[in-house]
Amino acid sequence: MRKKITVVGAGNVGATAAQRIVERGYADVVLVDIIEGLPQGKGLDLLEAGPVLGYDSQVTGTNSYEETADSDIVVITAGIARKPGMSRDDLLFTNMKIVGEVTRSVVEHSPDCILIVVSNPLDAMAHLAYKVSKFPRERVIGMAGILDTARFRTFLAQEVGVSVRDVSALVLGGHGDTMVPLVRLTTVGGVPVTEVLSGEAIEKIVQRTRDGGAEIVKLLKTGSAFYAPSAAIAQMVDAIVLDRKQILPCTAYLQGEFGIDGLYIGVPVKLGAAGMEEIVDLRLTEEEQAQLNRSADAVRQLLETMRTRDPSL
Ligand code: APR
Repeated sequence: MRKKITVVGAGNVGATAAQRIVERGYADVVLVDIIEGLPQGKGLDLLEAGPVLGYDSQVTGTNSYEETADSDIVVITAGIARKPGMSRDDLLFTNMKIVGEVTRSVVEHSPDCILIVVSNPLDAMAHLAYKVSKFPRERVIGMAGILDTARFRTFLAQEVGVSVRDVSALVLGGHGDTMVPLVRLTTVGGVPVTEVLSGEAIEKIVQRTRDGGAEIVKLLKTGSAFYAPSAAIAQMVDAIVLDRKQILPCTAYLQGEFGIDGLYIGVPVKLGAAGMEEIVDLRLTEEEQAQLNRSADAVRQLLETMRTRDPSL
């Protein structure tokens, strides 16, 4: 039987992810949103693209969860963006409520699914979905590292003047200002980037990567990035559906790996049919480990704030 993939949140990220997934042709897609007509309209529009593009998957838009029953993968993009006058904590509490409710409904109808969490603040929302779902950590994974790494690779390729395909890199840590691009392991055509670019040029690119989300928000004014985020989601879905055993930077629940325990943070993982099949516990330098620890502290702070509302997290 064809795989079934649900995308919750039919906004920019969710609808574009649904498009990318349905165009793969390997899965039926269910699009869910609270806004009446939005997932139905976008779902129908996607279905009507099938005859032109040659896919024959089913696409269903809905405001309820019955149609999502027995999904193999559920991507959670539901949430709101920060509005003027809203504090970071207000946003945290709002998205906490949304992602908590969505996770409960998803799990009720698809108890065996793999959850891919995309809503921000990402590391905290992945933690919440893990706790609410009570799934094993293999089946709750956050999307951030592929996106952050893609931004890093884009900027490096632009600077050197080569194809993005030639740039290999890895960005670890939380999805935010404290992310950790591993310059030491970054190569351009197999050559260490430190031999290709000056320290100053690399530092500028590292900073631009950290600010990558904000750069897009500033340009768009009314929304945030969705083409690159949805591409990153599709890569994770591919790795799971096609059992690729692909090493990708994803947000995973650490239980001692990297010296961190009981926390979601971005690390290299092996993605396959079972979800997060392995954490690749790289050996970091002292400086890299210190940066990762700082990033972990920032995620812990968010969790502490969430625990003021829900001590069970
Ligand atoms: N259930 C289902 N959908 C919901 C719910 C809910 N409880 N609450 C909100 N939504 C929907 C909104 O109606 C909206 O259509 O989530 C959608 C979010 O879409 P956008 O506002 O376009 O946001 P988008 O750019 O897609 O980002 C979604 O992903 O990258 C992250 O930071 C981003 O947290 C944000 C999320």
